[in-house]
Amino acid sequence: MNANIQFSFFMRFIHMKYVFFTAFLFLLSCDKNSVERNPYLYEARFDQSINLALPAFDNLNYQGGSLYWPNGGLKGLLLFNLSGTIMAWEASCPNHAPNSCSTVQISGVTASCSCEDFQYSLATGQPLTEGATYSLLFYKVQQNGTAVRIYN
Ligand code: FES
Repeated sequence: MNANIQFSFFMRFIHMKYVFFTAFLFLLSCDKNSVERNPYLYEARFDQSINLALPAFDNLNYQGGSLYWPNGGLKGLLLFNLSGTIMAWEASCPNHAPNSCSTVQISGVTASCSCEDFQYSLATGQPLTEGATYSLLFYKVQQNGTAVRIYN
């Protein structure tokens, strides 16, 4: 009986140690920088739906197809078909606060801003120009057949 109580206390002690250790690891992993998304662009809240069956979105039905969609985000959305998966990027250049020339323009499988001509990959969002620090801002996409929801 006494041994059972001692074992129970021992197990609770081990459990509490485990909980505190896990909480400690979680706090260590909370780096301030990992929360920051982009210092130039604020988080736009929007929820857009498009239908790939409509002629306006025909370009997105093909691998490597892209489209600028002005609704949603800060300066519109850059949509790209990556092997059947629709990617959605913010059209405001990620390396400059939004201004009159910071909307990136699609050119094939890349996009570039007219201010500094920084180029970005539409497949990965990564900058292709030396000196560009930030990647294109990504948005969430849900696909269900031809229905595509883009939101943040
Ligand atoms: S708008 Fe200035 S770096 Fe793209």
